[in-house]
Amino acid sequence: MNILILGGGGREHSLAWAVKQNPKCDRLIVAPGNAGISQIADCAALDIEDGNSVAVFCADNAVDFVIIGPEAPLASGVADILRENGLVVFGCSQAAAQLESSKSFTKAICDACAAPTAKYAHFTDAAAAKTYVTAQGAPIVIKADGLAAGKGVVVAMDLPTALAAVDDMLGGQFGAAGAEVVIEEFMDGEEASYFILCDGQTVMPIGTAQDHKRAFDGDEGPNTGGMGAYSPAPVLTDDIAAKAMKQIVEPTVAEMAKRGTPFQGILYAGLMIKDGAPRLVEYNVRFGDPECQVLMMRLGGQVLDLLHACAQNRLAEVTPNWADDHALTIVMAADGYPGSYTKGSQINGLDAMPETSSEMTFHAGTAEKDGHIIATGGRVLNITARGATLEDAHAKAYAMIKDIDWPDGFYRNDIGHRAL
Ligand code: AMP
Ligand code: GLY
Repeated sequence: MNILILGGGGREHSLAWAVKQNPKCDRLIVAPGNAGISQIADCAALDIEDGNSVAVFCADNAVDFVIIGPEAPLASGVADILRENGLVVFGCSQAAAQLESSKSFTKAICDACAAPTAKYAHFTDAAAAKTYVTAQGAPIVIKADGLAAGKGVVVAMDLPTALAAVDDMLGGQFGAAGAEVVIEEFMDGEEASYFILCDGQTVMPIGTAQDHKRAFDGDEGPNTGGMGAYSPAPVLTDDIAAKAMKQIVEPTVAEMAKRGTPFQGILYAGLMIKDGAPRLVEYNVRFGDPECQVLMMRLGGQVLDLLHACAQNRLAEVTPNWADDHALTIVMAADGYPGSYTKGSQINGLDAMPETSSEMTFHAGTAEKDGHIIATGGRVLNITARGATLEDAHAKAYAMIKDIDWPDGFYRNDIGHRAL
């Protein structure tokens, strides 16, 4: 099978690494890829949000199967165009991608299927929004409706912050993505992520994870895309996971099918857990980054069979093979991230890093220049390890990271602290 993966971050490096281990994988191409991915796959410079040019590339390169990594191509309908061109695609339709691209859409789905989530209201008018916020009081959560690169949520602990967030968002801070705001009840509890494959009808959970959103140790500093993750998430016990499936995921999938827009791909449910009960914080329609890295490390080569079956509506025919193990990943980011940072600094020591089924350094934002690896993004490397226990995986990953020589990067020293 010739396979094309769209994307070029740590998520896609880990997907490529797992897919490549499966003997059914013949040629593997990743677009655009990065310096780490280029060591295991061909990289192609493609505009991955332009479905028609991706379809032409697939025809020219005899691609049999396309795996879409990030949300942007899903939200712009690339999966639909590729399917119209006869390709087998892992990734949801544009209509189903609204579960991530519109917060008010997701809230309406939760209403329709009675899935537990925060109480909410939505507004396009600032005065009406502020009247509502003032009546509800703080803490309260203000969200831009559309995709805002992870920056469109303000958890306001006091009223002035909440009112300012309403003004900023409806005042155009996020452009069209913020033309509508969703205002939510603040939910208390512990967050965890649940990953479920779905072929439109059949659902198959493939793992749980927790990430660390703040930049610095002790959950201090600004919010980021995620500074590390581990799997499984101990807070998502079998009982709570079963409740989340019955009360949230299965009703959502049934509602999407009923509307004629079945969800086919990976559903990433962000959950808030309190007193043994899960509530939905948000859906994403792609793997988390860096959560994918720990899931891929635990699943390995079978991922190709699972994703391919999912894309062909054959999920009921396959079973994931679970090892009772743990994985942990540490993100190395450029100094200054998530604010402004410089690009182009050199990273040494990567050649000597172990590359085994339980130790991998996935590249997120790297390129090769004059024979050296340089940093080209905010989040740059994901040092990932697997072990019989979380302690084991933690010790291995932190031992690995000591061998990376990159003075311009930083990482958190406490990944996994909640679970350890
Ligand atoms: P989202 O983009 O919707 O996942 O929101 C980003 C983060 O904001 C979540 O991971 C939570 O930590 C927090 N958050 C979002 N909605 C709520 C809520 N209703 N109550 C408490 N925290 C929230
Ligand atoms: N790590 C959080 C996300 O991928 O959305």
